[in-house]
Amino acid sequence: MSADIGVTGLAVMGANLARNLARNGYTVALHNRSVARTDSLLNSYGHEGNFVRTESLAELVQSLERPRRVLIMVKAGAPVDAVIDELLPLLEEGDIIIDAGNSFYEETRRREAALREKGLHFVGVGVSGGEEGALNGPSIMPGGSRESYQALGPMLEKIAAEYHGEPCCAWVGTDGAGHYVKMVHNGIEYADMQVIGEAYDLMRSLAGLEPAQQAGVFREWNTTDLASYLIEITSAVLEQEDELTGRPLVDVIVDSAGQKGTGRWTAISGLEVGSPVTTIAESVFARSISSQRELRAETSQAFSAGINGVVSAEELYSEQDAQQDFVEDVRKALYASKLVSYAQGFDMLTAAGSEFGWELDLRTIASLWRAGCIIRADLLDTIMKAYEVPQERPKNLLLAPAFTEALNECLPAWRRVVAAAATYGVPAPVFSSSLAYYDSLRRDRLPASLTQGLRDYFGAHTYERVDKPGTFHTRWSEDRSEMEM
Ligand code: 6PG
Repeated sequence: MSADIGVTGLAVMGANLARNLARNGYTVALHNRSVARTDSLLNSYGHEGNFVRTESLAELVQSLERPRRVLIMVKAGAPVDAVIDELLPLLEEGDIIIDAGNSFYEETRRREAALREKGLHFVGVGVSGGEEGALNGPSIMPGGSRESYQALGPMLEKIAAEYHGEPCCAWVGTDGAGHYVKMVHNGIEYADMQVIGEAYDLMRSLAGLEPAQQAGVFREWNTTDLASYLIEITSAVLEQEDELTGRPLVDVIVDSAGQKGTGRWTAISGLEVGSPVTTIAESVFARSISSQRELRAETSQAFSAGINGVVSAEELYSEQDAQQDFVEDVRKALYASKLVSYAQGFDMLTAAGSEFGWELDLRTIASLWRAGCIIRADLLDTIMKAYEVPQERPKNLLLAPAFTEALNECLPAWRRVVAAAATYGVPAPVFSSSLAYYDSLRRDRLPASLTQGLRDYFGAHTYERVDKPGTFHTRWSEDRSEMEM
């Protein structure tokens, strides 16, 4: 039997993608470095579809129909190169290697260029949705050549998540575009989780709402504009009681958040392409600070005279329904911060599109994130609508009427919450930095003019004037007259 596609790397993500393909009627050739894993997959799930068992990459390649499609699902980095090197002598012109892991987009660009020279297609595919998604329908963001999508697209579209009958899979752009889009997805995922964490912390520290009570609040929020997978699972995590101690599980989990790197890459790339993704960067830094546990322990001693403990919502809001009002304010602050974070993410995609020559269709990208992936949310529909009419596409999502209206609506609450966080010493880095981004963008004059003046003073870096074209320098150490350069 010749197979439609081969999958190498059968840890949980690879195994689930292989099963998803087989369940959708494709014949899938399986390969794993240790054959035991292949056999275990076949023993447990062999009945789910047509699989071809292979023991080596050569055997895998031989079993495939042409053009051959080999999907690699191994750890990002050197292991991907190792598999490619092993596959190279076995493949022929027109064959396709697919990397479905979370690879760094620059590596994907490099690999794509190298393989193109050899007449092979290399397709970096962003896949989101975790283990569950890989099995039942992930959001899929393929890059690579358009030609390779002809041979691969229909398969990927068939196994992808569906949103109202539309597959959450579409070609996003050449070479590393798929992995880039997935990286930005993850950056937004970091920010989404961070704003949820900030809301939880504020409601607990300033309104005394215990995790179990907050589970109800988040459940309620999931029926509002905030409706999303991450808000939904926040309820589940907050209501979980620890079996051992009977305490809320969230209180016994170590408060130090790890990362595999995609959020960090997003922040770095934002700096490189000149797109201020402050919410994403703050979220990455928030994880770094959380990991400095010893330093935090010492610092909390040194500054113990600061504000500590629960401040009652009544202190913040004098009316009767203080707690309810505060919770509603926090909801609005969360939503506004989320809007900013998505606006920044899409701004970054625009900048990267110009930088790398990708024709990224932002509407399509929003559509891919509506189901299957971790950041799936009702908001993605609003974003799609904002990009509906090509001639009216906003420069920045904050300028889309739906965003502008929502931000105006949330603004007073957002400011109150950020002010309360600062007054009572609860860290809310993304709530505050997203507000600062909003305030910076809406300011027609920023103090950067002074920065330019200072740069010119100490380094003759020159400046431009608002009233006439040209480049100027003031002779600071001489007679302070201005000269045109
Ligand atoms: C997804 C997830 C997935 C994973 C990331 C983030 O879209 O399915 O983003 O790819 O959770 O690797 O992991 P870290 O938080 O460990 O960086």
